[in-house]
Amino acid sequence: MTESIKALVERRVAGKSLDAPFYTSDEVFDLDMKAIFAKHWIFVASEPEVAEPGDALVVNVGTASIIIVRDDEGEIRAFHNVCRHRGVRMIPEGATMIGNIVCPYHSWTYGLDGKLKFYEHMGEDFKPGCNSLKSVALRSIGGLLFICLSDNPPGDIDEMARVMERIWPPITCAKLVLPIRQT
Ligand code: FES
Repeated sequence: MTESIKALVERRVAGKSLDAPFYTSDEVFDLDMKAIFAKHWIFVASEPEVAEPGDALVVNVGTASIIIVRDDEGEIRAFHNVCRHRGVRMIPEGATMIGNIVCPYHSWTYGLDGKLKFYEHMGEDFKPGCNSLKSVALRSIGGLLFICLSDNPPGDIDEMARVMERIWPPITCAKLVLPIRQT
């Protein structure tokens, strides 16, 4: 933590609003990204939002763009939304349905398991197996989807899973169907 952020924290008065820089400073934003969003489990969606194979959702977590997708075997996966060729963001933010993940730039094509399936002009020593999409840690707890951008996700998610699954039955697609409103 830098001296200027320490000074901001020390100036904080209990029971009062935080100083404006807590909301507006780039330095505070960067610290927030590094200390919280890059290291901890973050809730991003619920299972019914990717109910069927090919259902995908692109969410922004801090400065990262993440693809949440249900693959052909029904497993939900998370990948960085970054093409391994030239780093392009491949799918815009929001919900969509896809058969593959296709980069709009030079059409590199990845399966829903993240494996590179199609590419061109890469030479004989190119290894497609080393160019899968970068996966992101994902856990479903009671139908709620959490991701962690760290390569070493903290284990506190296990305790949360124990507590939540004891008190909260899993959300299923059927439970998300809302009754038709009578007019
Ligand atoms: S940047 Fe994605 S295919 Fe070239």
